[in-house]
Amino acid sequence: MTNYLGRPASAHFKTLACIALMGASTYSLAAEPANALHGAMPPDAQQQLLDSLKLNAAAPPQGVDAVAWATIYIPADNELTAERIALGRKLYFDTHLSKDRTVACATCHDVSRGFTDHRNVSEGIGDHLGQRSAPTSMNAALMQSMFWDGRAASLEEQAKLPILNPVEMGHPDAASAMAAIETDPSYQALFRKAYGRAPTYEDLGRAIASFERTLIFLDAPYDHFLNGDNKAISPAAVRGLELFNGKARCVSCHMINSSNPLGTDNLFHNIGVSARKQNFEVLAQKGLRVIEADSDPKALDKLAIETDLSELGRFLVTRQRQDIGAFKTEQVRNIGITAPYMHDGSLRTLWDVVDHYNKGGETNSYLDGGIEPLNLSESEIDDLVAFLFTLTDVRFAAQNAAAMREQEAIAAQKRPFRDNALAHRQMLPFEQRVMGQTGLQQ
Ligand code: HEC
Ligand code: HEC
Repeated sequence: MTNYLGRPASAHFKTLACIALMGASTYSLAAEPANALHGAMPPDAQQQLLDSLKLNAAAPPQGVDAVAWATIYIPADNELTAERIALGRKLYFDTHLSKDRTVACATCHDVSRGFTDHRNVSEGIGDHLGQRSAPTSMNAALMQSMFWDGRAASLEEQAKLPILNPVEMGHPDAASAMAAIETDPSYQALFRKAYGRAPTYEDLGRAIASFERTLIFLDAPYDHFLNGDNKAISPAAVRGLELFNGKARCVSCHMINSSNPLGTDNLFHNIGVSARKQNFEVLAQKGLRVIEADSDPKALDKLAIETDLSELGRFLVTRQRQDIGAFKTEQVRNIGITAPYMHDGSLRTLWDVVDHYNKGGETNSYLDGGIEPLNLSESEIDDLVAFLFTLTDVRFAAQNAAAMREQEAIAAQKRPFRDNALAHRQMLPFEQRVMGQTGLQQ
């Protein structure tokens, strides 16, 4: 298999293997046993777990303004109804949506794994690896654009893409996907009940989006703290909150409050994640040539998921130089249970995330001006991480606590992105380029 640029796919595996050796990540790189479920919990068990979460789809979700919910978050042509949610839920867990029937949305956005897959990059049909890490589908309904590069404008648009992507679910076209699900005769009636007409691919996208609008998880200890329960979060987390809003400058992109509950500015920034691996100038030139040849959305999806141009991020969508290596500010909600982090899953723990920011990201010509060394001490880093773990919904409290213990143990062993000299400005970022990238050393 070769990618768009004619580079053999094995080169990509080598890059990944390199990252693994660097200790940045070991989530998915070890050869996994052949597994029809790609490591996900079986769909039926996931659905039971989902039932136990007791989602309330009837009312506007707790933590979201009711007027905004009705007017901004639900499109006029896809009013939220119980029938549409039920149809979308069935589709979300249905492996017929993939060509070899091993992959459902729920494979990569698994209820038992923070609605993601806990992998660096996702694995689709035929065990093909994509180029990016799966963000959680929790609260995606409240995001202004979808995907790390924002190339889909809505949940409706997003849902139709992975089904047709060759390395994700692999149906050659919409007709093939519709024929596959209609081997289950109950869909005819379900589509009619939901949309009053025979099944169409457009309505399939709408129904899945409706189901995703029920996946709102905004009831975290942090919210209890904001609502006046002073004991809801630890003193360390309270100090971490102050750092988040102050010295650590996280709030400048991850503003989190009642009118902006997700903690994202919905914008795109180069914080230096891809710069660890690429020469952006060379890659951007290649990208421009390929995009000029074909700019249809499916082609863009292919570039983003399958080729090394993926690392150009938002640039693939806008073709603006300032968007080279820029990715969407992800939500920080439920962040404790959605490791590994960043668009390439390269950061394994929240300690790694804070280490990355503390040293001022990874220097490159397109680095966002808001990223600079933070001079955080070790105890400040621990406090900030303690705060980040208070953003996970209380329904996942046990999973969150277990993840924190696990990450703490990993961080005690290795902190591959820690660079005190840069963080405390004893060294300048360009020295790194001359002397070699310390972030890549142990
Ligand atoms: C093979 C794994 C895989 C499958 C199957 C899959 N996804 Fe994803 N999903 C991903 C990856 C990877 C991304 C990020 C891709 C990117 O940004 O280019 C993503 C992104 C998303 C997003 C955007 C979230 C955000 O924060 O921007 C949503 C929503 C989503 N997927 C829902 C779905 C739905 C619904 C389905 C089924 C129709 C599905 N996914 C199937 C891996 C998968
Ligand atoms: C200049 C804007 C900006 C600032 C400042 C910023 N972030 Fe981010 N954050 C981003 C962007 C953009 C991404 C995604 C980058 C990528 O994947 O390449 C991100 C990703 C993350 C993620 C990973 C999300 C996921 O699901 O993988 C976490 C956690 C995070 N940031 C926490 C923080 C913390 C903590 C701070 C303060 C120390 C901070 N951020 C400061 C823009 C910012």
